[in-house]
Amino acid sequence: MSMNTFGHLFRFTTWGESHGPALGATVDGCPPGIGINEEMLQVWLDKRKPGTSKFTTQRREPDQVEILSGVFEGKTTGTPIQLMIRNTDQRSKDYGEIAQAFRPGHADITYFQKYGIRDYRGGGRSSARETAARVAAGGVARAVLADLLPGLEIKGYMTQIGPHGIEGSRDMAEIDNNPFWVPSATTAEKWATYLDGIRKSGSSVGAIVEVVAKGVPAGLGAPIYAKLDTDLAAAMMSINAVKAVEIGEGMNAACLTGEENADEMRMGPDGPEFGSNHAGGILGGISTGQDVVVRFAVKPTSSILTPRKTVTKSGEDTDLITKGRHDPCVGIRAVPVGEAMMACVILDHLLLHRGQIGEGLRGKIG
Ligand SMILES: Cc1cc2nc3c(=O)[nH]c(=O)nc-3n(C[C@H](O)[C@H](O)[C@H](O)COP(=O)(O)O)c2cc1C
Repeated sequence: MSMNTFGHLFRFTTWGESHGPALGATVDGCPPGIGINEEMLQVWLDKRKPGTSKFTTQRREPDQVEILSGVFEGKTTGTPIQLMIRNTDQRSKDYGEIAQAFRPGHADITYFQKYGIRDYRGGGRSSARETAARVAAGGVARAVLADLLPGLEIKGYMTQIGPHGIEGSRDMAEIDNNPFWVPSATTAEKWATYLDGIRKSGSSVGAIVEVVAKGVPAGLGAPIYAKLDTDLAAAMMSINAVKAVEIGEGMNAACLTGEENADEMRMGPDGPEFGSNHAGGILGGISTGQDVVVRFAVKPTSSILTPRKTVTKSGEDTDLITKGRHDPCVGIRAVPVGEAMMACVILDHLLLHRGQIGEGLRGKIG
């Protein structure tokens, strides 16, 4: 496989498998002189790590990140930053059966058909343990953004679990107070009861995650093949189990009229102001200065306790129960991954913008 790198100027390559000794990310293109240490990156990894509540897998992975290169005396040197996370809770016996049979909903069958060989232990390279490496890379991006765009804030949260959306109005202050990162305390309580039932029955459900970047300056992105929304969609779609991505109004834009959808403008004291944000902060692939709003749908966890029909490598029908420890809703742990991908894309486009245009914008209004 050669497609393991993401980004244009701020690029990261992830490596490693679920049950190998370690996995990680090589971050290249990071500006020099940025203060980075392991504790700063660990904050984001701790958000994603398993076992933080009964609603996430009980695997015990401390996901401790180590910086092996590219940082000297606490500052980035402009050379490749090697980030490594050791795998410490591999239990190969949990996965022995899937060496022969392909788990429905997993990449087992496609990897085998394409490559003729696969690391079946925990899904190998297709395991979402890979997302720990991106979260570490996202931590580097966040550190650079804190320096270059100090007003930027990236926040992810769940807006739906199974068929249940957010009840009542959103209270963003609640996001960090519940295991679902949902901006509503009453919704969190209802979701907890619902997901507990799903978990106890050995089943799983999907989710919708929204990631918002506030403080993105106007002008990031480029026409046609380097659209900010193109890269955001690719970033989110590359996360395991993501099956749909929307920007702003997304699919719902098809239900609106032109009057309802096009965001009107008026001059404000500091320049043009938009009356709404159906565009999700992007017009023509270029940021408007409004919040950049991305949503993605995460499919239900495929590893469930119900026996499922499948086939073996040698071509026999069989039924498979995926034993082991799994999240009843992987959408929860996808939240910090979505945030990390947003940070990487925004930084990448900020560096591209500075490369072509320099600081600020060329066109002045008013
Ligand atoms: C953070 C995270 C954790 C995941 N954990 C599991 C898991 O425990 N069990 C499972 O069946 N799938 C899990 N997945 C999803 C699988 O990795 C994914 O469905 C599988 O690799 C097939 O890829 P695809 O769904 O993108 O086609 C997880 C996804 C994410 C984002």
